[in-house]
Amino acid sequence: MIDPFGRKITYLRLSVTDRCDLRCVYCMAEDMEFLPKAEVLSLEELERVAVAFMRLGVRKLRLTGGEPLVRRGIMDLIANLGAQVAAGHLDELTLTTNGTQLAAHAAGLAAAGVRRINVSLDSLDPDIFRQVTRIGDLGKVLAGLEAAKAAGLAVKINTVALKGVNGDKIDDLVAWCGEQGFDLTLIETMPLGEIGGDRLDQYVPLNAVRRRLEKRWTLEPITFSSGGPARFVRVAETGRKLGFITPLTEHFCASCNRVRVTCTGTLFPCLGQEDALDLRAPLRAGESDSGLQEAILRGISHKPEGHDFVIDHDHRRPALARYMSTTGG
Ligand code: GTP
Ligand code: 5AD
Ligand code: SF4
Repeated sequence: MIDPFGRKITYLRLSVTDRCDLRCVYCMAEDMEFLPKAEVLSLEELERVAVAFMRLGVRKLRLTGGEPLVRRGIMDLIANLGAQVAAGHLDELTLTTNGTQLAAHAAGLAAAGVRRINVSLDSLDPDIFRQVTRIGDLGKVLAGLEAAKAAGLAVKINTVALKGVNGDKIDDLVAWCGEQGFDLTLIETMPLGEIGGDRLDQYVPLNAVRRRLEKRWTLEPITFSSGGPARFVRVAETGRKLGFITPLTEHFCASCNRVRVTCTGTLFPCLGQEDALDLRAPLRAGESDSGLQEAILRGISHKPEGHDFVIDHDHRRPALARYMSTTGG
């Protein structure tokens, strides 16, 4: 799959649910309403979508949410997709999770062939963690991370930098990740969905965070790429990788290799644009495999050149109406 700008699409982010057991301030509204079950793809439909993308050249599949591990039956889907890795149809099956359910699922994930996971964690302080997630219990996530380590899963922590919340405490996370043997990726908050707060009140440019980190840590340039949007350095003192995802201050669209499908079967060729194509209608109308693949290719042929998120002091509204939790990040 090659898009109109010559980019090869090899990475699918597939959202398996819009539901989540947390309510992170940058992701959801406090009184978030979730989709009726009938609108959400069944596990069989999700698998069909994933397989269609694999046939078209996708080599990396990331399950997202909402929170993927709150979806009932998700481990069955993960086992089936793991079999695709074993059969050589996929290089990597992974997921991005908030970690709350990992204590129960980490061993099962490893058994299904998952090798590494990304875990969202914005603070090591229980009160700040609660402030960001509104309802979260940090202890559950830390227990989940212990289970992930015990199961042999490689872990990358995702931290959204938030002004006045954790923006000046990233230092502690760098040190802690070093002790735990986790990589860390910092993310600029992106303006998706009406979150009931002011985005500008949250936004911290990562170059400011990086300058602060450089006072304590030696950040060595490396050429490593995870195939995702992060640019990495190595923290010399800990030996761990530190990534920066900077959609606002520095575009990475030119090297984009991915598309996302929501849990309702909508293909979004770009996270930051409205262009979309419905795959659920053909799926439910009994479309053949080749018909489904043709629909996907039509979506890829409309992939825009990039997003145009801006932190614009005159426009305090979200750039896009849809939520991160429904889009799948
Ligand atoms: P790795 O495979 O470990 O590199 O993971 P990843 O960064 O691809 O996935 P993850 O789910 O951990 O996403 C981290 C952050 O990157 C999230 O905030 C995503 O929303 C964001 N992200 C992923 N892909 C894109 C993209 O194409 N555009 C933008 N603007 N952000 C993205
Ligand atoms: N901006 C940036 N990152 C976000 N995430 C969720 N909402 C936003 C946002 N508005 C992150 C989560 C998770 C990943 C899938 O996306 O923290 O790590
Ligand atoms: Fe849930 Fe992730 Fe959104 Fe937080 S960022 S509310 S953990 S989906």
